[in-house]
Amino acid sequence: MDTIKLLEIAEKAKENAYVPYSKFHVGAALLTKSGKIYTGCNVECASYGGTNCAERTAIFKAVSEGDKEFEAIAISSDNPGETYPCGICRQVILEFGRDIKVIVGESKGKHTVFTIDDLLPKCFSGVDLQK
Ligand code: THU
Repeated sequence: MDTIKLLEIAEKAKENAYVPYSKFHVGAALLTKSGKIYTGCNVECASYGGTNCAERTAIFKAVSEGDKEFEAIAISSDNPGETYPCGICRQVILEFGRDIKVIVGESKGKHTVFTIDDLLPKCFSGVDLQK
């Protein structure tokens, strides 16, 4: 699975976003270490705090299906260029490994690959709860 293909899948997943309030579509494509792909979109709620981001939708779908080993997650939004995961989603991605790749940008344009460690250095994590 290459980076561009995963971004294409994220771009397609964006079409399912339920965004009556922000009108801002976000899609994610999560690649497991075994090669399976889970997609996600943002799902908004009239009680705004009930909103779930695309990245977490994809991760929660995967975990609920028994997958917890992740290779990469690609993110796409209505904005041109790169859309980065929000702080909450960074924390949730990191929960499953510091080496997970985060791919932002456009399949037909510039895109960049980070690790979640790049995007959330010096963080609180499960390690802190073992002390
Ligand atoms: N959103 C995501 O889906 N992922 C992010 O990382 C940032 C924000 C969504 C949540 C909400 O539906 C909309 O974008 C505006 O915040």
